[in-house]
Amino acid sequence: MANFSPAFLDEVVARSDLVEIISRHVDLKKSGSNMMGLCPFHHEKSPSFSVSPDKQLYYCFGCGQGGGAFQFLIQHDGYSFPEAVEYLAEKAGMEVPQDRDRSPVAEAKQKQAYAMLAQAADAMGRALRSEEGSAARAYLQQRGMPTDIIRDYGLGYAPAGYGFMQKVFGNDARSNSQLEAVGLLFKGEHGYGDRFRDRLMFSIRDRRGRIVGFGGRVLGQGEPKYLNSPETDWFHKSDLLYGFSEHRDSIRKSKQLVVVEGYMDVLGMAVHGLKIALAPLGTAIGERQIREILRLCDSPVFSFDGDRAGRQAAWRALERMMPLLKSELRPRFLYLPEGEDPDSLLRREGKDAFQHRLDKESKPVLETWLMGLQLLAGHGADGRARMAKKADAMLATMTDTYLSQAWRQEVEQATGIVLQQARRRPQARASSQPSPTPAQPSAQARLNAVEERFLAALMQQSARFRDLPDEAISFFVDNEIISPLYSRAFSIIAEAEDDNTDIARQLAQEYPDSQTMISRWVNQATVQDIEFKSLLLDMEANDIRLRIKRGLSLVEAIPMQHRLREIQQEQRRLTEQLHETGA
Ligand code: CTP
Ligand code: MN
Repeated sequence: MANFSPAFLDEVVARSDLVEIISRHVDLKKSGSNMMGLCPFHHEKSPSFSVSPDKQLYYCFGCGQGGGAFQFLIQHDGYSFPEAVEYLAEKAGMEVPQDRDRSPVAEAKQKQAYAMLAQAADAMGRALRSEEGSAARAYLQQRGMPTDIIRDYGLGYAPAGYGFMQKVFGNDARSNSQLEAVGLLFKGEHGYGDRFRDRLMFSIRDRRGRIVGFGGRVLGQGEPKYLNSPETDWFHKSDLLYGFSEHRDSIRKSKQLVVVEGYMDVLGMAVHGLKIALAPLGTAIGERQIREILRLCDSPVFSFDGDRAGRQAAWRALERMMPLLKSELRPRFLYLPEGEDPDSLLRREGKDAFQHRLDKESKPVLETWLMGLQLLAGHGADGRARMAKKADAMLATMTDTYLSQAWRQEVEQATGIVLQQARRRPQARASSQPSPTPAQPSAQARLNAVEERFLAALMQQSARFRDLPDEAISFFVDNEIISPLYSRAFSIIAEAEDDNTDIARQLAQEYPDSQTMISRWVNQATVQDIEFKSLLLDMEANDIRLRIKRGLSLVEAIPMQHRLREIQQEQRRLTEQLHETGA
């Protein structure tokens, strides 16, 4: 992790506006002192995602994601920590200190690469609009691509012949080698040459919307039909989905996602107002991409060509999907008529007919699986045996054990064979890809309901720390995770020069691993003073009981017992008060 000073990070957070950052993706509505909206990290129908403008922390009570501005950019937009810091600092007009953990050379190189790719895309866009781009323009027009789509998705044209890139960037050794590194030039026997020539160019963006590579299509017929940027440090085909950054928000809003095969399908659907399509980059869809898709939408439709190749591709996707399936996910599969793709269908039948196919002709994943098994196994008794065997092996890759049992029953019913292997517990999937979300801190602070609300009360209003009795300092001593935070809060209060110190914000910064938890406290229902009083009494009583249980001398125990009785009386008074105020 980078070595930004805590003071610098403080300043960055203080000058950023979390509500503004989150509002770009989530509609937030005021709710008490917080803002609520539909969580951008999981699928939900009623809002459980809360943002605290005071504390600059967000938390989702549905899925448990939470944190501050840095976290949001990391979890939601795919920034690394140093990138998130840099982004917010620059936005706030602050000078960013050099990150000492990363070589400045590597950093500068990476920046240069992105800048170069963006500049190249601009140049290709200009070329498309210029004289030399007239054939490409005509081709796009013939395929029904309006200018706004051409502009928004960064389409361009790489002119025929060699020397285009060098005309844009200069023909010096340095630019040439940089252009080679980003995959725009190749080095041949006679020096450097343009990789893309006389091609329609598609800009491919990462999750943050930065251009990381290109796909180039021949105009009309020719081989290869598509040429893509080579793999580089910034362009990992198996991690990317075409259309992701462009469509993420509208997919969330509409709760619709369609996985298609080609760039032109993504664009063709956008032309018809369906900005909900994503495509892999010409490779078979992989587990990481499927994971990303299921995170974005719980009922994506995977569309495939109806021919043999399409069915095989669907089967491969299904195999990759099995370990990720859960009962609350409802992916569907759609086979299109042979020789058609979404783009051609939309042009032939229009939007409504296509939407009808998505809704009515797509099949649930289970049905697709059973059909695929049957097709694979063939008929007769030996076919049924093959089907059972294959099913068994696939079920073993599932991690949702309830779902796998339900599916097993389906296969048993279809084949009349009792499956054997799937009874084994699925092996821990050590081989599976790490989740794209940063790992949650592994240690969980176990808190009971009183402790949870008590901490929430304190974090919501720092001043309450001042009202705590002396004994309170010993609460949580046995909780390894809470204890350091809790005692640090007391020292922060002691050091504070004025009453404006916000404990939650400061702790969130000092203990990044605990940020999610702190976000949860500040975003939950406001703890009113009367509840706080009662919680404090509960905490004290529990503390005393614990001490008594651990064994005390009689001299020590008697006043404790006495205090316990007092507490019980105070509790009763509070309860009466509560009833009177009708709270
Ligand atoms: N593809 C590729 N290399 C090829 C052919 C295809 O990388 N030689 C990838 C491209 O990402 C392409 C996708 O596979 O978008 C689907 O290919 P295809 O169906 O042939 O192309 P379309 O996207 O349908 O393009 P068009 O409609 O222009 O034929
Ligand atoms: Mn096509």
